Amino acid sequence: MVWAPVSLSLKFELYQWHKSFGALVFGLTLLRLAWRLSHKVPPFPSALKPWERVAAKSTHYSLYALCLIMPIVGWTVVSTAAFNVPTLLFQRIYLPHIPFLASHPDKIFLDWLTSLIHLWLAGVIAGLILLHIAGTLKHRFFDGNDVLGRMLPARKDPSSPELK
Ligand code: HEM
Ligand code: HEM
Repeated sequence: MVWAPVSLSLKFELYQWHKSFGALVFGLTLLRLAWRLSHKVPPFPSALKPWERVAAKSTHYSLYALCLIMPIVGWTVVSTAAFNVPTLLFQRIYLPHIPFLASHPDKIFLDWLTSLIHLWLAGVIAGLILLHIAGTLKHRFFDGNDVLGRMLPARKDPSSPELK
C-alpha cells in the first residue's frame, strides 16, 4: 500500500480499505474482550509447564493490546498527515481526525514519529502472531496437547475435563 507503484486514486482506495479493516479490528477486539471478560474459559491443560503458561499468557495479552493500540496509532498517523486526507470507513462512515493533533504546531514531526511507531508496532505484532502460531503448532504436534481444539465451542465430552 505504501510503496505500491500504482496510480494515486488506487493508492487512495488501498489506504481507505486499510483504515476500514484496521478500524474493524479495533471494534471486533472490543467485542471479543467484552465477551472474554464476561465468560468463563477452560483452564490451561495441566501438562503445560509454568514457563509455557507465562509465555502463552503474555503473548495473548500483548496481542489483545496491540489489536487496540495499532488502530489508535494509525488514527494518529492519519490525523497528523500533511495532506489532510479524509477517512471514509467502508465507504460509509466518516472518521474525523483527532482535533488536537490535526491542528498541532509540530504536526510534521508528529507525523514522522507516529508513522514510525505504527510501522514498528506492525513488525512487533507480526512477530507475535508468528510466535503464537508456532506455540500452537508445538503443542499440537510435539507435546500432544490439543490446544487447537480449545478454540472450538465446548465439547460435551466427559473424558475432556478441561472443556466443561
Ligand atoms: C491492526 C490494525 C493495523 C495494522 C496491523 C496496520 C499495519 C500497517 C502497516 C504494516 C503499514 C505499513 C507501514 C509502512 O510501510 O510505513 C501501515 C501504514 C499505515 N496505516 Fe496502518 N495498520 C492498522 C490500522 C490502521 C488504522 C486503523 C489506520 C487509520 C485509521 C491506519 C493508517 C495507516 C496509514 C495512514 C499508514 C501509512 C503510513 C505511512 O505512510 O507512513 N492503520 N499500517
Ligand atoms: C493460524 C492462526 C492462529 C491459530 C492457529 C491460533 C490458535 C490459537 C489457540 C489454539 C488459542 C487458544 C489458547 C487457549 O486455549 O488458551 C488461541 C488464543 C488466542 N489467540 Fe490465536 N491463533 C491464530 C491467530 C491469531 C491471531 C492472528 C491473533 C491476533 C492478532 C490471535 C490472538 C489470540 C488471542 C488474544 C488468544 C487468547 C484468547 C483468550 O484467552 O482470550 N490469534 N489462538
